[in-house]
Amino acid sequence: MTTAFTVKSQTVLRSQICGWRGSAETIAFVPTMGALHAGHISLITKAKKHASKVVASIYVNETQFAEGEDLDTYPRDHKRDCEMLRAAGCDLVYIPEKMYDPYHSTTVNVGGPALGLETNHRAHFFGGVALIVTKLLNRVQPDIAVFGEKDYQQLLTIRRLTADLDIPVRILAAPIMREKDGLAMSSRNRYFDEESRKIAGQLNVIMRQCAEEIASGADINTATDKATIKIIKAGFDNVDYVAAADTNSLELLTGHLNNCRGRLLIAAHCKGVRLIDNCQIG
Ligand code: PAJ
Repeated sequence: MTTAFTVKSQTVLRSQICGWRGSAETIAFVPTMGALHAGHISLITKAKKHASKVVASIYVNETQFAEGEDLDTYPRDHKRDCEMLRAAGCDLVYIPEKMYDPYHSTTVNVGGPALGLETNHRAHFFGGVALIVTKLLNRVQPDIAVFGEKDYQQLLTIRRLTADLDIPVRILAAPIMREKDGLAMSSRNRYFDEESRKIAGQLNVIMRQCAEEIASGADINTATDKATIKIIKAGFDNVDYVAAADTNSLELLTGHLNNCRGRLLIAAHCKGVRLIDNCQIG
């Protein structure tokens, strides 16, 4: 059977996956919303190291966007995305023509690491992510799936989801890819003009300083409050959160770090663009 590089139908996807399974291939999966950059491509590179076939998906998932967010304007360029995926050695790109039946009635209610932080500002976000990721994992049935640490709370939520629902897939994490000035790569960075892009580049600098202060023994609330003030002074419109949390549970940390393994997580708005970033503390 000849393999098409892009597949839209679930039936064709399934027959391709079955064919590979019949030839004892292992399958890695990288779900994306397209508008790809080097961060996404690093996930493909990681996936290739852990499986003999790599499937990527491109789908701008409506259930994870809230009213007033950029669902309609989210950048879409399948031709360019597919060229990048081919060059990176991806074997198949799944671009589903239909994800939700008109009578779709099932929701996924996620807890644990999904609570707080992003959920305080985007209440339905992880429910939407959990639903699409569950559906995509059921359609592709990969051995492993790769997610970026860029969306750290999403990564932990998906780890919890797949463990809790016995979805037979191993979740691998890939490190954050950054621009030269340290700004985490994001499909939304293309919304910036020159001036706002410069401001955006300050976020990771302030984040790192804050993480270093906490690692050196500073009081966590004092350090995160200081970082919030610096972010506003740098020219950001507002800050949703600067928070230190346990690396695995994402429970918020206060006082001093002591022997905890901590992660610093930030969300802030820069000239109308919402940025998130995170780093390990210490
Ligand atoms: P998207 O934002 O397109 O990201 C797809 C994957 O790329 C995610 O796992 C994300 O963490 C990773 N990624 C994005 N920027 C990165 C960077 N700078 N470095 C490393 N990895 C990066 O996340 C989503 O789509 C969606 O929520 C999805 C999981 C596809 C469900 O719709």
